[in-house]
Amino acid sequence: MNGAVALAHPNFALSKYWGKRDCAGNFPAVPSLSVTVAGFATRTSVTFDASYVGDRVIVDGDEMSGQSRARVVELLDRVRHAACDARPARVISSSDFPASSGLASSASGFAALALAAVRAAGLDWDATRVSDLARRSSASAGRSLFGGFVELEAGAPGATENDLLAARPVAPAAHIPLAILVAITSDATKAVGSSDGMRWTMNRSPFARAWLEEAPKLHTELRDALLARDFVRLGELSEASALAMHASAIAAGLIYWRGATLDSMSTVRALRDDGLKAYFTVDAGPHVKVLVRPEDIDPVQSALEATPGVLRVERGRVGEGARIVDPEEAS
Ligand code: DP6
Repeated sequence: MNGAVALAHPNFALSKYWGKRDCAGNFPAVPSLSVTVAGFATRTSVTFDASYVGDRVIVDGDEMSGQSRARVVELLDRVRHAACDARPARVISSSDFPASSGLASSASGFAALALAAVRAAGLDWDATRVSDLARRSSASAGRSLFGGFVELEAGAPGATENDLLAARPVAPAAHIPLAILVAITSDATKAVGSSDGMRWTMNRSPFARAWLEEAPKLHTELRDALLARDFVRLGELSEASALAMHASAIAAGLIYWRGATLDSMSTVRALRDDGLKAYFTVDAGPHVKVLVRPEDIDPVQSALEATPGVLRVERGRVGEGARIVDPEEAS
């Protein structure tokens, strides 16, 4: 029996990945830049053992079946193929935040799974190789292998499944003082997952082409703002990327927002009118993530908590990349 336990944080994209290259292998059509968010975590143990009968995947106490299980088994198969190891696996994973709700549980989930599986199989891969493996299952997961601020380029046009594409760190956690608040607006799981939402947008949105043209420009400007430690510009461009992504999705009929999502965005803008530097971003779900300077966190949290429809507000901070942890820690 060989096993390993990994911990990974989710990441929130400041410049968004939305849309895939039209080829096999899960290559993003646009570049993205994210912040890895401590305060939320997924722990995953992977054990390979010849005595197991088939693979079992248990997530947050539930045995997975169908498509959810197949996505995990696909990653395990890649690892088994690389390690020339046919043994079945047990995967046990738990997150300390809600899954499938737009809080990037697939990012932390596949990052932790990839790292634990690679180590359990005895492969001596570096973080770049593990990031490529995670990216094949869920592109945003490729970014959670690294801490701080992380970039994932678009796949090359005409990329093939054999091509590697890994995320890479752009700046460490301490590069710019930043706190993150998450206004939770629903406890329901989202109706349309990111992969389906992207496909729907690319196939049906009259603004898909505009998004694909605009996203790389926003990304470059946002990266420059980050490297220049320009908090205000970073925040403005994060909002612009999120709004452009959602505009393209909404034009295809795909609305991830709820009333409380819009009200939280209004709260953030009202805080700005009062002189506080706060900026929002929204992923494929109804929650609003707010970027603030650490010294402004209390008034911004209070204002979000007072916003109608906000269930609670969680605090996050810029975190480290995925890592192997002590099995005792992971229980
Ligand atoms: C809105 O990485 O979940 O969070 O590659 O199909 O698994 P797949 O998609 P996923 O999409 C994330 C979309 C997003 C933006 C982002 O994280 O860049």
